[in-house]
Amino acid sequence: MSKKPKKLIDKKGRRLDSRKPNELRNIRIEVGILSNADGSAYIEQGKNKILAGVFGPKEMHPKHLSRPDRMVLRCRYHMAPFSVEERKSPAPSRREIELSKVIGEALEPSVFVEYYPRTGVDVFIEVLQADGGTRCASITAASLALADAGIPMRDLVVSCAAGKVDDTVVLDLMDTEDKLGAADVPVAVMPNSNAVTLLQMDGNLAPEEFEKAVNLAMEGCKRIYDLQKEALRTKYMAAKQEEEVKE
Ligand code: CDP
Repeated sequence: MSKKPKKLIDKKGRRLDSRKPNELRNIRIEVGILSNADGSAYIEQGKNKILAGVFGPKEMHPKHLSRPDRMVLRCRYHMAPFSVEERKSPAPSRREIELSKVIGEALEPSVFVEYYPRTGVDVFIEVLQADGGTRCASITAASLALADAGIPMRDLVVSCAAGKVDDTVVLDLMDTEDKLGAADVPVAVMPNSNAVTLLQMDGNLAPEEFEKAVNLAMEGCKRIYDLQKEALRTKYMAAKQEEEVKE
């Protein structure tokens, strides 16, 4: 017998974690935290904890995968066995293979791949703790890791989801809302040009609800974009201060 879904929005319009429908979870972003990667970033979004590390541009291995006119961007999204309630096998699942592909495709349009022919860039994403919306938070962190690696980019890519829980369109769904809600619409965008690099939908929405969800997700992206830029600035201000102390 299936369990009756509990109410996800109370009478006052508050969600399970007391957020309003258009409220993001708390977000903390840090850039440049791994000394052995060329670029790195860490994000906490609600209970999500995700690390991204970038290597490259470097010679492509295996060589036959290299392209004579451009760099190849490879992405691996991986969930730690302890990242979810039920231990996850460390071997790549179908879901992780799919997410690696869509995250790589969401990031690639931001990179000037034609500047580095025959090279490769590897993006490694480790989900340490998952609570819904990990593909979005991964894109937000991985884009910063690419920027931290000094790779020439058109813009940062920022990502956020909106969806429908009970009868309300809400921003930035957490795990319970994702699982018990009606729909989830992850969006990634390069805000400078308003270019969408990822748009997916899981569930059912009426056309007007879909439009509302996309607009809300874009609004969330813009707010997270400010946090991304702030995190980059913080890293470079700290590096500058270190240099000044040495001099
Ligand atoms: O994380 P995202 O929303 O981008 O992807 P999803 O496939 O919609 O997964 C939603 C959530 O399900 C994840 O964020 C995890 O919290 C959870 N999950 C899980 O509990 N066990 C797994 N093996 C995979 C995901």
